[in-house]
Amino acid sequence: TGAGKFFVGGNWKCNGTTESIKKLVEDLNSAQIEDDVDVVVAPPFLYISQVVGSLTDRIEVSAQNSWVGKGGAFTGEISADQLVDVGVKWVIQGHSERRHVIGESNSTVGKKSAYALSKGLGLIACVGELLEEREAGRTTDVVFEQLQAYADEISDWSKVVIAYEPVWAIGTGKVASPQQAQEVHSAIRSWLSDKISPEVSSATRIIYGGSVNGANSAELAKQEDIDGFLVGGASLKGPEFATICNAVT
Ligand code: G3P
Repeated sequence: TGAGKFFVGGNWKCNGTTESIKKLVEDLNSAQIEDDVDVVVAPPFLYISQVVGSLTDRIEVSAQNSWVGKGGAFTGEISADQLVDVGVKWVIQGHSERRHVIGESNSTVGKKSAYALSKGLGLIACVGELLEEREAGRTTDVVFEQLQAYADEISDWSKVVIAYEPVWAIGTGKVASPQQAQEVHSAIRSWLSDKISPEVSSATRIIYGGSVNGANSAELAKQEDIDGFLVGGASLKGPEFATICNAVT
């Protein structure tokens, strides 16, 4: 861990029911989470109001996506303005599932991010390479292109958290080794220093995502440039998620 307060996000993806989310919120409300960590959970849109209304203020709520601009005739979309209206504080953009399953481009991700920031939301900006890109030695090229697409649209980085999620480690049980993660996090830190500013580089949290669990989080958290986690599967279990939140302590 290096920059700022440790940050742990739980990305629930397209999981849960009214009942299971009620139980998860109860578990999170009663969990012992240390003070020196920022904790955010991202429920599916449909359950956001339920979570905002029942979750302890200790944990902030994020969306998993938002529309590129103001609302209107955009069937099936949710605007950042609407997220703010219901008490959401953060949004995830550029998650690999949105890039590679839904087909969002770097430039769409950049525009959605800028709009969300302009409405006052914090941004969890995801980047990460596919397995074939890693094997071709293109990891940092891909990650830097994704970062540049954010930078093309964003001027204020104070509410941005960068999530490095190697696609081959997401939901696969194949976590990046602490060294593999540290190597890319440190490259991202240098990129920020060169392309944005040394101040932004040292203040921006770079979190890791991809098969993080209660058993591997402490080791990953020891790496100099790992400032937190974005957790998928293990964030659906309250006690295990709390263990991950407390990984640095
Ligand atoms: O956004 C979190 C993520 O993609 C990692 O998912 O299930 O591998 O922890 P998981």
